[in-house]
Amino acid sequence: MHGALSVAWEALRKEMKGLILPRENAREAAMTKNLSVFPVTSLRETVDFLNNQKEIAPFEVDLNEVFEVSKHYQVDFSDVKGQEHVKRALEVAAAGGHNILMIGPPGSGKTMLAKRFPTILPMLTLKEALETTKIHSVAGLLAGNQSLVATRPFRSPHHTISDAGLIGGGKYPRPGEVSLAHHGVLFLDELPEFKKNVLEVMRQPMEDGKVTIARAMLSITYPANFMLAAAMNPCPCGYYTDPNRQCSCTSQQIQKYLARISGPLLDRIDIQIEVPAVRYRDLAATSSGEKSDVIRERVQKAREIQLKRFKNNERIFCNADMQAKNIRKYCKVNEGGEELLKNAITKLGLSARAYDRILKVSRTIADLAGEENILPEHISEAIQYRSLDRQLWL
Ligand SMILES: Nc1ncnc2c1ncn2[C@@H]1O[C@H](COP(=O)(O)OP(=O)(O)OP(=O)(O)O)[C@@H](O)[C@H]1O
Ligand SMILES: [Mg+2]
Ligand SMILES: [Zn+2]
Repeated sequence: MHGALSVAWEALRKEMKGLILPRENAREAAMTKNLSVFPVTSLRETVDFLNNQKEIAPFEVDLNEVFEVSKHYQVDFSDVKGQEHVKRALEVAAAGGHNILMIGPPGSGKTMLAKRFPTILPMLTLKEALETTKIHSVAGLLAGNQSLVATRPFRSPHHTISDAGLIGGGKYPRPGEVSLAHHGVLFLDELPEFKKNVLEVMRQPMEDGKVTIARAMLSITYPANFMLAAAMNPCPCGYYTDPNRQCSCTSQQIQKYLARISGPLLDRIDIQIEVPAVRYRDLAATSSGEKSDVIRERVQKAREIQLKRFKNNERIFCNADMQAKNIRKYCKVNEGGEELLKNAITKLGLSARAYDRILKVSRTIADLAGEENILPEHISEAIQYRSLDRQLWL
């Protein structure tokens, strides 16, 4: 049976006191607490129970215990050698809730890095975990002995996915990848390979944090608040930026390839970072980098600053959520900073659109540094995270 947790929540909402469920679904439903879930194995047992001829103890789950054992990840940031500046960009993205695009040749570690992105995001709260669990429960993705999704989900749909697969659909609308990634990371590998209409339908959930699937008979809304991580090669053959390999693409082919991802989606991605081919020296090194836990602590601190900043604003939780008027208010820069920005726009040929993005990301970098004011050094780092803008002007 799928969706035991949702059934349980509905029962709670209707102020029911108990629920009788097949034993294998009891654990999932018991997560709701405040509801007695009676596990049964047969109809006979159910009848006996209802006739008071058999005692069945309600299923007990220790939430804290479940949370404690399952919140650990299989992978860690320290597995990735070198690539310090990419790790830093991911830390900034995690700290401010910024979507991120990684651009690099095959084998440079983009997928490896993206998989580890959830491990540096702030710890899931119980409320978030239950929300995510509910969606996975509806989709029938919970393993029998799993009662709670206690780690942030990482979803990486293949680029051949349909729009229904991505945002949800079907006769009885199932949640799509954007909802399965709720409170976690949606990773789109080889971004330019996705169909245009598929990328287009992501706009609504990215704006609203939820998605409504309209069908003739019914329409249903699922939460879809995720962080987007995307990856792509710099050109069709993949080796344009690789110093050790020869790129076989014409500049026209490259332009065409990059143009596929322009527009509204790219507009929602604050950070674009180049991932160079891994240097042998880094791969051979035995010393490992920082552990995810250490990075996550810094991320968490920066998030706390943001929660305070936006405490009176219902729709903003992190710097990435800021709209133009919030940016004017919270991202003031001094004269030195203005000068830098002006130079970036005129000399590097950055678009005016990039301007607001740079300010938001600078705010996050300042927050990570515990600085109230955005300093020129924060701005110059943020400018580094506009690889694609610059690339287009080469
Ligand atoms: N920085 C690194 N440290 C340790 N191992 C690495 C690193 N970069 C790459 N690798 C190794 O190389 C493999 C390939 O990396 P990965 O699949 O992440 O590359 P990619 O950039 O996603 O490539 P593609 O463009 O082909 O998808 C990894 O599974 C890993 O074993
Ligand atoms: Mg890859
Ligand atoms: Zn090429």
